[in-house]
Amino acid sequence: MNTPSLLSPTNARAGSLACVGMGMTLGSHLTPLARSHIEQADVVFAGLSDSLVEMWLQRMHPDVRSLQSYYREGKSRMKTYRQWVELMMTEVRAGKRVCGVFYGHPGIFAWSPHKVIEVARAEGFAAHMEPGISAEDCLYADLGIDPGRFGCQHFEASQLLLFERRIDPTGYLVLWQVGLVGDRSTARFKTGPAYRQLLVDLLSRDYPLDHEVIIYRGATLPIQQPRIIRVALRDLPEAPLTAEETVVLPPARTLQPNLAMQERLDALDRQAEVDALA
Ligand SMILES: C[S@@+](CC[C@H](N)C(=O)[O-])C[C@H]1O[C@@H](n2cnc3c(N)ncnc32)[C@H](O)[C@@H]1O
Repeated sequence: MNTPSLLSPTNARAGSLACVGMGMTLGSHLTPLARSHIEQADVVFAGLSDSLVEMWLQRMHPDVRSLQSYYREGKSRMKTYRQWVELMMTEVRAGKRVCGVFYGHPGIFAWSPHKVIEVARAEGFAAHMEPGISAEDCLYADLGIDPGRFGCQHFEASQLLLFERRIDPTGYLVLWQVGLVGDRSTARFKTGPAYRQLLVDLLSRDYPLDHEVIIYRGATLPIQQPRIIRVALRDLPEAPLTAEETVVLPPARTLQPNLAMQERLDALDRQAEVDALA
């Protein structure tokens, strides 16, 4: 016998949650589904990086509550993100249809949207994530990169410093939050050249110091152009960098053929030919 799911419309609790992505560029990236979640909500929470984008959102709904004001220099971002979860859950528990709107994709390098959906579902509320166009999507378009060509690794820059990770320099390397690299307090909005030098020291194990590094900032307003700055790896510490850039390293080495696997594939192909003749 089929047991109805906890979240089926028959027994989901009143109150619901949708976390949607606003995309990166004002006016052009919002999907019809995301817009519909915003318009149908009782209350909208906004985690957006640009105040103009927030003003645009306010034109779509009369009750938009900004989450930005909970950030403080010196205050742990994790504390802020937990507050965001509680703010949204308070309204969900009160029986409201809540929409959390986050810039880019709500599930990419974003802790609160994943957490609040987990909490809401655990408490028996319907909860949904609606994807958006992220900085990652924009950089593929603006830099002309196809991640399928050589493969593409993504790392949060501090995680790369703090843990033993394996970088593959035959593919693209995308580093997020380089402007904050090495901030273990999670309470600063930027670190600085000395911290980025540690990142360069780490990367120089796999890349020559004259290897090209692309510092990328996608457009958030339609009047802007993407900002693309190319520097040598050794110059990354002194390069202009805020919390809003993503750093891309193109491949440094050519792909090496896996001869053992190619031999095994040859054997399989030969066997397939024999089987086809039988
Ligand atoms: C907290 S994450 C948020 C990512 C966002 N959810 C998304 O879907 O792109 C912040 C990081 O996203 C990247 N980022 C944010 N705005 C960007 C922009 N305009 N252009 C390029 N990268 C950006 C940077 O790596 C930044 O440190």
